[in-house]
Amino acid sequence: MRQYKGLDPWSVTIDDFPPSDNATAQLRAAICWAVLAPSGHNTQPWLFRVADDVAEVRADRTKALPVVDPDDREMMMSCAAAVTNVELAMARFGRPVEVEWFPDPSDADLVAAVRAAGDAAPPPSDTAMFDAITVRQTNRSPFRPEAVPVEALEVLSAIAAARGVSLTVAVDEQKGPIADLIAEGDRVQMADKSFRRELAAWVHQNRTHHLDGIRGYAFNYGDLASHVGPHLIRSFDMGKSQAARDRQLATESPALLVIGTPGDTAMDWVNSGQALQRILLRMTADGMAASFLNQPIEVPTLREQLALLLNDGSVPQLLLRAGYPTARQPHTPRIKASERLL
Ligand SMILES: Cc1cc2nc3c(=O)[nH]c(=O)nc-3n(C[C@H](O)[C@H](O)[C@H](O)COP(=O)(O)O)c2cc1C
Repeated sequence: MRQYKGLDPWSVTIDDFPPSDNATAQLRAAICWAVLAPSGHNTQPWLFRVADDVAEVRADRTKALPVVDPDDREMMMSCAAAVTNVELAMARFGRPVEVEWFPDPSDADLVAAVRAAGDAAPPPSDTAMFDAITVRQTNRSPFRPEAVPVEALEVLSAIAAARGVSLTVAVDEQKGPIADLIAEGDRVQMADKSFRRELAAWVHQNRTHHLDGIRGYAFNYGDLASHVGPHLIRSFDMGKSQAARDRQLATESPALLVIGTPGDTAMDWVNSGQALQRILLRMTADGMAASFLNQPIEVPTLREQLALLLNDGSVPQLLLRAGYPTARQPHTPRIKASERLL
C-alpha cells in the first residue's frame, strides 16, 4: 500500500485498495481514507484496530482539547467522520459495512465496530462522496456572493435527516443575530488565556514538521505571519479583530447552516459527525466549500441563545458557512494510517 511507503496520505488512490476480497486487508486500506476526515484543531483523535472482518475505531483521548471541547463532544464527531470515510471507501469497492456504535458499554473510547457485510454495488451518490474525500478541505476564505441553490440545500437537509439530525438553514433575518453570537463567542474565547494557549499549541508555521494541528496557510497566513501567529495567539487577546472578521464572514456567507440534534448525548454527537462528513463531501462533490463558526456552540451561554434564536427545538451541535469557493489552500497534513493502527 502506497501510504506504507511514506507518501503523503492525501495522495491515496483507488489503486491502493486490495483487489482480493480479504476483508482484513480491505478494512486496513479503507483506513487510509478515514484519516483524511476533518477534526477539531486537526488533532486526528482516532485510533484503529483491524482483526478479521471488523475495524474498531477508538477515540484517542490523549488528543483531547479540554478547554474548547471539555466533554469530547467534537472529538466524537471527528471520530464519526472518520468512520463515515471507512463506510464510503468500503462501499466504493463493493464491500458495504455495518456499523455498531459504542458496542461495549464498559469502554466509552470504543466509538464504533465496523464490520464488512457482504458484497453490493455502491449507490452512485456514495461514489461521488467517496471521490470527494481526497478533495474536501475546510475553506476559511470568503466565498463567491452567489447563493447556494435551494435544491442543493434540500439535498443536504435530507442527508442530515437520514442520520437523525436536523440541518437548519438560517433565513436572511437570522444571519445578523447569528453573526452577533459568533462575534461574542470570539470575544469570550479569546479573552480566555487557557483557550488561547490550547489553540496556539495546535497552530503551526507553514514550514513545520508537525503532521497534526493547523498550518498557518489554512488561515491564509503567509510564511512570516504563520511564524509569529502562535506567539500572538498565546500572548494577546485579539478577540475584537477576530470578532470583526468572523462577523463579516458570517453575514456575507451565502448560507449559514446549523446541525442540530434532539438531545446532547454521545449518540447525538456521532450522528452529527456522520451527517457533517456526508454534508461536507456532498458539497465538495457539487463544487461548494464550507468552514466552521462553532464559537457560539462552544460557549454554553451562547449555545442557549443560539437554540432560542433558531427556535426549532434542536440542540445546536455545529455551525457551518457554505458557498462557492474563490480559492483553495494546500491540504492540512495528516498522520499516516499505518501510524494510527493499533
Ligand atoms: C467537530 C469539528 C469542529 C471544528 N471546529 C472548527 C472551528 O470551530 N473553527 C475552525 O476554523 N475549524 C473547525 N474545524 C475544522 C478543523 O480545524 C479542520 O477539519 C482541520 O484543521 C483539518 O483540516 P481540513 O478540514 O482542511 O482537512 C472543526 C472540525 C471538526 C470536525
